This record gives sequence, structure tokens and C-alpha cells, in this order.
Amino acid sequence: MEFKNLLIETADGVATLTVNRPQALNALNSEVLTELASAFYQLEYDPAVRVVVLTGAGDKAFVAGADIKEMAAMSSFEGHQFALKGQHCMMAMEKMKTPVIAAVNGFALGGGLELALGCDFIYASEKAKLGFPEVTLGIIPGFGGTQNLARLIGKSRANELIFTGRMITADKAQAWGIVNEVFAPEELLVKARETAAAIASVGPLGVTYAKNAIANGLNMGKEDGFRYEASLFGVLFATADQKEGMGAFVEKRKAAFAGR
Ligand code: CAA
Repeated sequence: MEFKNLLIETADGVATLTVNRPQALNALNSEVLTELASAFYQLEYDPAVRVVVLTGAGDKAFVAGADIKEMAAMSSFEGHQFALKGQHCMMAMEKMKTPVIAAVNGFALGGGLELALGCDFIYASEKAKLGFPEVTLGIIPGFGGTQNLARLIGKSRANELIFTGRMITADKAQAWGIVNEVFAPEELLVKARETAAAIASVGPLGVTYAKNAIANGLNMGKEDGFRYEASLFGVLFATADQKEGMGAFVEKRKAAFAGR
């Protein structure tokens, strides 16, 4: 499928998905959200793709938020629909069997930070700035930010970031547990793709089931989470990947996973 606002480049099992609207610092308007949801679906079912790296075009922004110019004239009903549409995108990433790594190359603000938080983990460039400026616009984060951030870093730090609308540096975001690693700008995509390649080389079903166990388990009580993990663990023993992975270990050779 051709996209107006997205670029997709695939090599060796790793797809790089770039939000490509640099004239608006890659802001998410309704059209970009529709395209993102389609792209996630397309990438999830592309057999050539095992991992996605998500980034922003240009050297300034990952994504500078939801499109303020589009939102400015929205009615309450339209605002609600817009939030639901953005949340659908974030949930689509969480539910995707394919892992998604955010490579935050610049501003990740509002809906842009929500997009990064919807990914499985975040790498950032030294020059990235992250924040939720929604309160400076008289609104709140609406693409899952209040929920995902508080679950990730706890109530106190989420409150501080969201109530002040301040931006934080990549280093602070790393110290707060939002960002896994910080790299020099020219290293960011290289490192994100390296990690993506490492994930692409192991058992795909194992990765998918691990993502599923963690994401769903976080919404359960611990005992239910343990039960859920054990069920998924058991299901994997019915797969060719488990036979191949353990067979290869015993035979001292490299496993060739088929993802089935
Ligand atoms: N929506 C629409 N357009 C945006 C945008 C956004 N979120 N962010 C930047 N742009 C546009 C600017 O309007 C400008 O366009 P023009 O050249 O046509 O005027 C262009 O991108 C370049 O931006 P700036 O000239 O502002 O660049 P700068 O370097 O001076 O500032 C910035 C960079 C600090 C990121 C600034 O652009 C900014 O504050 N952007 C808005 C950030 C924001 O508030 N994001 C949250 C949006 S609300 C939200 O996301 C709600 C939600 O949770 C769903």
C-alpha cells in the first residue's frame, strides 16, 4: 500500500517506518493516524518483517504531537472521536505480534510521546526532547498518555510531567525509565536497527508470546498473570520453533526458526 505521510523501508526482517511530514514536524493529523493504523496492520502480516523501528523524518522531530491546527476547530464530539482514533493506533501497536522499537530522533511531544510510549521500548537521540505540553493548550493527553506514562514510570513523575507541560531531555527520560538507551544522533537508527536485528534472529513466536504475556499480564493481577504466562509457555511446546530452538541447542548448531 502507498502512503502519503509514511515511508517504509524493509531489510533483513527489519522494517523502518518513518512518519514523513517534516513541514509540520511530523504532527499526527487524522490522515496520518489512518495511515499508521493501516501500516501497522500491513507490517504485522508481512512475512518479510519481524521487527519494526518507528522514527520521524528530518533532523528536528520524532513527532511534535497531534496536529494542533486540525484540533483547533474541533467540537467536543470530534475531539472525542480524534482521541479514540489515536488510542486505536497505540493499542494496535501493543496488540501487534511484531515488536516495535521507537527511535526518538528529536521532539516527542504530546501525541508524539504517546506514539513512542505505544511502542515496545524507546531509544532516543541525545538531542531528543520529550514532554506532554497539552495543558499549555488547555487539554490533556488523549492518545493513551495519561495511562501509559503512569503505568510505566508511576504516578508522581507522570503527574509532574503532565501537570507542568515541561519538556525533559533524553538523559532525564532515561533516568526516569521512559527511554532505554540514549545515543548520538547519527548512531540512533544504527543502534535501533542492530537491536531489531538481534530480535529478528531469535524465535519469532517466542518474541510474540513474550510481548503478549507482558502486555496482557500488566493488565492482570499477579496470580492471573502467572497462570497466563504458564499457558503461553505450554502452547509454545506445540510449535516447530520450540523443537528447532531446543534441537539446535542439543545438536550445537544455530537454530533456523520458521515462526510456526
Ligand atoms: N501540530 C501542527 N503543526 C505543528 C505542530 C503540531 N503539534 N508542531 C509543529 N507544527 C508546525 C508549526 O506550526 C510550524 O508550521 P508553520 O511553518 O506552517 O508555521 C512547523 O511545524 C515548524 O514548527 P515551529 O516553527 O513551531 O518549530 P520550532 O522549532 O520553533 O518549535 C516546537 C518546535 C517546540 C516542537 C513547536 O513546534 C511546538 O511547540 N509544537 C507543538 C508541540 C505540542 O504542543 N504538541 C502537543 C500537541 S497536543 C496533543 O498531542 C494532544 C494529544 O495528546 C492527542
